[in-house]
Amino acid sequence: MTDRYCVFGNPINHSKSPLIHAEFAHQTQQACEYTAEETPLDGFVGAWRAFVDAGGRGANVTVPFKGDAFALCDTLSHRARRAGAVNTLILGGNGRTYGDNTDGIGLVRDLTYHRVALAGKRLLVVGAGGAVRGILEPLLAEQPSEIVVVNRTADKAEQLVSDFADLGRISGGGFDALNGTFDVVINGTSASLTGELPPLPDTIFAPHAWAYDMMYGAEPTVFLQWAGPRGAKLLDGLGMLVEQAAESFFLWRNVRPETAPVREILRQSLN
Ligand code: ATR
Repeated sequence: MTDRYCVFGNPINHSKSPLIHAEFAHQTQQACEYTAEETPLDGFVGAWRAFVDAGGRGANVTVPFKGDAFALCDTLSHRARRAGAVNTLILGGNGRTYGDNTDGIGLVRDLTYHRVALAGKRLLVVGAGGAVRGILEPLLAEQPSEIVVVNRTADKAEQLVSDFADLGRISGGGFDALNGTFDVVINGTSASLTGELPPLPDTIFAPHAWAYDMMYGAEPTVFLQWAGPRGAKLLDGLGMLVEQAAESFFLWRNVRPETAPVREILRQSLN
């Protein structure tokens, strides 16, 4: 019997998740199929219920439904509760829905894959929206010396700092609060989508620093194009996408797929 999974989103036609999960299933010889479900903006709960009724076992959730998914779950993982968002749904026994969030662990796994050290390092996270809220707990768990969060709207960064202050050293505010250099600078804003650059000073990179954009595309993002000439080593969010998918796959199937070949396939699919 083939088990059914899907990703809910709107829009969803460009999603790479079906390709990724098809590769994982093939590689691990799991009998499962994975589809992309374009979901009406006001129809998320109905779409999940209908999917379950049709034999669905679990799902990924992407923009703009991660908050809706959070609200419908009967049980939440610790990291989903902290993130305030769910990207992975699992159908449990007696029809209950369990929600998790694998975005942050996906980022950390991708950084680890590329041998980016986090422990004892100074991290800058740019942005304070839903994407950033999803990564702070797993990043703080790596025990950086400090995480600074900066955002165009300073209040939102300050709110995040107060929400996560119990987990480690974290501070932040508006861009004018920035000082010193950082070992890892993570762009978690949506500015790359519109080809915009957050207003960062030229001098933020420590020697051997990394610049990471959670977005990805066929071409380097504006942020990465800016960071390269300033001496940073560059990573985009493609690996994070693959790693968060691998973690979801593990939650559903209890099997850990190899991500390296899937990274290659995905990179090629962008060209
Ligand atoms: P997401 O779910 O991707 O995090 P979001 O919650 O809408 O989306 O958050 C978008 C983030 O990108 C916010 O931090 C936003 O800054 P504001 O809170 O000030 O709106 C940030 N952002 C978007 N465009 C930006 C730009 N051109 N420059 C700087 N920050 C930008």
